[in-house]
Amino acid sequence: MASEQRTLKYAGYYSSEEGTADLFMTQVGPRTPGGEYLRRFWQPVALVSELSDLPLRARILGEDLVAFRDGSGQVGVLHLNCCHRGTSLEFGRIEKRGIRCCYHGRVFDIDGTILEVLGDPNEERIKSRMSQGAYPTHVFAGLVFVYMGPPDKKPPFPVFDHFDLPGVRLALPLRLPFACNWVQVKENALDPAHTAVLHAWEDRFADQFGVFPEFEFSEAPGGAFYLAVRRVGDNIWIRSTSVILPNVHIISGVLQNGKIPTPASRPYMSFFTAPVDDTHCISFAVPHVGDDESLERRMAFGWVGTGQTDERPYHERQRVPGDYDAQVGQGPIEKHSKENLSYHDRGVVMFRRMLKRGIEAVQRGEDPPDIYREGSAPIPSMGTDRVVPCSMFEGDLDDPAVLREIGLKTAQAYLEEPPMKHLKSTVYR
Ligand code: FES
Ligand SMILES: [Fe+2]
Repeated sequence: MASEQRTLKYAGYYSSEEGTADLFMTQVGPRTPGGEYLRRFWQPVALVSELSDLPLRARILGEDLVAFRDGSGQVGVLHLNCCHRGTSLEFGRIEKRGIRCCYHGRVFDIDGTILEVLGDPNEERIKSRMSQGAYPTHVFAGLVFVYMGPPDKKPPFPVFDHFDLPGVRLALPLRLPFACNWVQVKENALDPAHTAVLHAWEDRFADQFGVFPEFEFSEAPGGAFYLAVRRVGDNIWIRSTSVILPNVHIISGVLQNGKIPTPASRPYMSFFTAPVDDTHCISFAVPHVGDDESLERRMAFGWVGTGQTDERPYHERQRVPGDYDAQVGQGPIEKHSKENLSYHDRGVVMFRRMLKRGIEAVQRGEDPPDIYREGSAPIPSMGTDRVVPCSMFEGDLDDPAVLREIGLKTAQAYLEEPPMKHLKSTVYR
C-alpha cells in the first residue's frame, strides 16, 4: 500500500491484500528456525493430573506424542506412532515398566528403549538396533515438561525466584487452549495498553484498571517486563508483568486496585505456554495462592469469566471480550506486514527483537542468550504490583513525564534488587 493511499477515505481497496506472517519467528515445527530455538528450552506438555491409567495423547511443537506414567511411577513422553508399523501408542497399555503397543505388543521404556518384542527370533537384534523416539521429562508445579532439542544441548530445568515463596502455595494448574500462534499470546503479556481498555470493559476488574497508565519496558535476566504507572488517589501504583523467554509470563493480582501501599505483591499466575503447532497453543496456568487467600474467592472471580477461553456464548464474548477473543481475533498467525505499530507497542517490539536474537543465535550454532545455565542465579520475576504513597515522590505526579520517570527508576530498582526479595523478607499481601 503506497503511503499516500494510507490516508484516503474508503481506502479498503488499497488495503485488501492478505498480508504475510513472520514465519521466521512463528513456525514451531522440527528444523524451522523458530522450532529449533524453542527446542532448546523445557516445554510444558501436560498437567500431571492428566496422567492416569490410560496413555495421554499430546501435541507440541508440531509433533504428536504420548505421555504416560508407568507402573513404577516414571513419566515418559514418546513419539505417538510406534516405530514398528506406526500405530498410535494412545491405544497402548501402560505396563509396570514402560508402555506396550496395542498392535504387536512391543514394549517401550520411558527413554524409548525397546524392552520386549513378542514372538520374534530376532528380538535381541531389534532391541539393539532401534528405539522409539522419546524425550526427557521433568515434573514441576503440577506440569509435565519435556526437552525436545539436541540431547547434548539439554539445559538444566530453570530455577525461578517466584516459586517457593513463604506464605504462598501453588494450586492445581489450568489448561487454557488458544486457537492461534503462541507468539501473539506472549506479546499480549508485554502489551500493557490492552489492560486499560480490554480489561476495563470487564466489571470484575477494579475501576483503577481503566485509568490509562504511563509505560516503561525493560529487558531483564532471562526476559523482559513492563511497568504501568498510574496515580490512584494518594498512591502511585506501578504494575508490572514479566516475560521469561521464550514462553513463560507472570502476572500479579487481577484484584489489585493500587490502594494499599506495598513494596511487592505476590505473583498471581504463571503461564507456561506450549506451542502446539503453528496455529494453536496451550497456556498452562499455575496459580500462586496466598495462605491468607481462599481458593474459593479466587475461583469466584471466575477464570473463564476473565475471557481466557472460548467457552462463553459468542454474543457474550462480543459484548465483553477477553484476552482469548483479542488474541485469537488477530488470526491463526497474525500478519505482521499489515500492522501499524505505535508508541504503546514498544513491549511487543522488544519481545520480537529478543525472540529474533535468540533464533539467530541458535542458527549460528550458539546457545540462546537467555537460556538458564547450570549455576545461574534464579531467574527473577518482575510480575508484581508496587504501591507507593505519593509523598515519597517529588514533582507533579499528574505529569506523564514524571510518571514515566518513576517507571524508569522502578525498572532500575527491580534490576538491582528483584521484587520477589521483598516477599521473602517482609510482610506480603
Ligand atoms: S505397530 Fe507397534 S508393535 Fe507393531
Ligand atoms: Fe490481558
